[in-house]
Amino acid sequence: MTLQIRSLEEYQKEYQKSIENPANFWAEIAENFVWKKKWSKVLEYDWLQPETKWFLGAQLNITENCLDRHLDTKGDQTAIIWEPNSPSEEAKHISYKELHSQVCAFANVLKNNGVKKGDRVCIYMPMVAELAVAVLACARIGAVHSVVFAGFSSTALAARINDAACKVLLTADGGFRGDKITPLKDIADEALKTCPTIQKSIVYKRTNQEVTWNPSLDVWWHEELEKVDDNCPAEVMDSEDILFILYTSGSTGKPKGMVHTCGGYMVYTTYSFQNVFQYKEGDIYWCTADIGWITGHSYIVYGPLSSGATTVMFEGVPSYPDYGRFWEVCEKHKVNQFYTAPTAIRALAKHPTELVDKYNLSDLKVLGTVGEPINEEAWHWYDDHVGKNKCPIVDTWWQTETGGMMISSLAGITKDKPTFATLPLPGIQPVLLDNDGNEIQNTEAEGILAIKNPWPSLARTIYGDHQRYKNVYFSAYPNHYFPGDGALRDGQGNYRITGRVDDVVIVSGHNLGTAPIENAINEHEKVVESAVVGFPHDIKGNALYAYVITYDGVVPDDELAKEIRQVVSNTIGPIAKPDKIQFVSGLPKTRSGKIMRRILRKVAANETSNLGDVSTLLNPEVVQNIIDNKL
Ligand code: WT7
Repeated sequence: MTLQIRSLEEYQKEYQKSIENPANFWAEIAENFVWKKKWSKVLEYDWLQPETKWFLGAQLNITENCLDRHLDTKGDQTAIIWEPNSPSEEAKHISYKELHSQVCAFANVLKNNGVKKGDRVCIYMPMVAELAVAVLACARIGAVHSVVFAGFSSTALAARINDAACKVLLTADGGFRGDKITPLKDIADEALKTCPTIQKSIVYKRTNQEVTWNPSLDVWWHEELEKVDDNCPAEVMDSEDILFILYTSGSTGKPKGMVHTCGGYMVYTTYSFQNVFQYKEGDIYWCTADIGWITGHSYIVYGPLSSGATTVMFEGVPSYPDYGRFWEVCEKHKVNQFYTAPTAIRALAKHPTELVDKYNLSDLKVLGTVGEPINEEAWHWYDDHVGKNKCPIVDTWWQTETGGMMISSLAGITKDKPTFATLPLPGIQPVLLDNDGNEIQNTEAEGILAIKNPWPSLARTIYGDHQRYKNVYFSAYPNHYFPGDGALRDGQGNYRITGRVDDVVIVSGHNLGTAPIENAINEHEKVVESAVVGFPHDIKGNALYAYVITYDGVVPDDELAKEIRQVVSNTIGPIAKPDKIQFVSGLPKTRSGKIMRRILRKVAANETSNLGDVSTLLNPEVVQNIIDNKL
């Protein structure tokens, strides 16, 4: 593969090239793809607007790159290995030929159900292989997919469907996850009560559980497939047409529908996949994420398939039937590159190492991590017990918004360093800023992370709210992209991500805005106001601590705490439930009425000896009260 960097010197050379002349650099990379029409200009951008366009005037269909172009050379090679939730069910090996056929057939199902180019299709499905098929089928006909993670509640699902005015919903009767079954159809039914734009719901049968049927809306996936053939030409897409929308939480209210476009996203996810993991022809690659997150979009589906790789899709959870499952699957499918999240590593590291040692992991060549900072212990456990000290670890820093990996070592090419994401990928220019927004010139420094230049897979806007896109990412530090993270840089230029600098908490690798959780808690009839902060947690990385003020006369008890957790679970999803709920008489506020979260964070983290200056508070007396009653 011509996209791959093969030595440290080459990395340095390519990096230099990518910064000096980004247009030439990316044009050369882009030559390795199938375009229906080449670009007339590589890059046009103005981050004061902000506006970014890549491969202007080019036409393509990403599925021709992920499927059609491999048919001649590797039609019979496995594209997707699907590993079911239960080890007693058989895994599926889907070849490129078969995947192509399934995608084309389902694309025809979508067309038969009224989906046209540009229509939004919401996908709320478990990790069955058909989820990948559905995503690609949308792309095949130019429909915009909006995948909603199947752990989200009906309220969260409805909000996302309505925000994008989706026309069709793809769901399933239920989903298996460990020893639980999620009643996806029931949840979707509840959501659809408030989703007037949905005209059809196509239901995949997975669990065989009983479902309520609405004949004017619902059709069965397998029945629809009987009506179509597998001949479906790929729609011609402009490079800057929308490929998908994916929601991420923000520090205020509504989730943000990040918009990714066809050309740049394809080029960057493919390039980064091949370089970071150093994927070689014939390797088996496994990313344990769910396709409901960006990691699954970019590095289960698009990047690997466009590279002609064999990608593993896992329906289940790391703890089922026991905490050895990941390693059992690695052995069974002879996995070469394994990509997971620190929260999973920490959870597994709590269990006896026999659960790892008893499996043959000798095929592993590269380990990866993503989603949050990885602590030193977890890094070493991963290195010692899983990688047996012979696998480079790529700690990949990126975001839903960035579309692809931004800072990471390239396995075996650039050096890894525990707890450091290390160096930027070619094309990425990170900088550290001080609080006044000035670029820090010293190599060794700590500050606010920002990116100075455009790269192809940057999200182009927030669906329906370009102003918010500008405010959140391009206003704090003009002419820079602001990701919301802090970082430090060592003397060699390696970056270590220190965590969020805004009101987003990463819990078990899930990006959660505190504001929507507070809004949910405040919905409870007995609650006046609340504040939610993160605090360090052994396994989850961070957990949520909620401070809640109740109305006069309410006697708060465990029952109320339970009800509050339920409200949060119903509104957002179980992942957002606070671990701790402390009932308080007041919240520390500034004179302008803003909650002083810094103080609440310190109390939650047990750092009460060092609260900093509280003199500017409107109500300093509540602080002691909060400390005295800390959980
Ligand atoms: C936030 C983005 C990228 C897919 C998964 C999460 C944190 C992500 C790392 C890492 C330290 C990381 C950041 C980032 N994060 N990767 N390797 N080291 N922190 O995507 O939900 O959009 O969250 O996750 O805080 O801003 P996301």
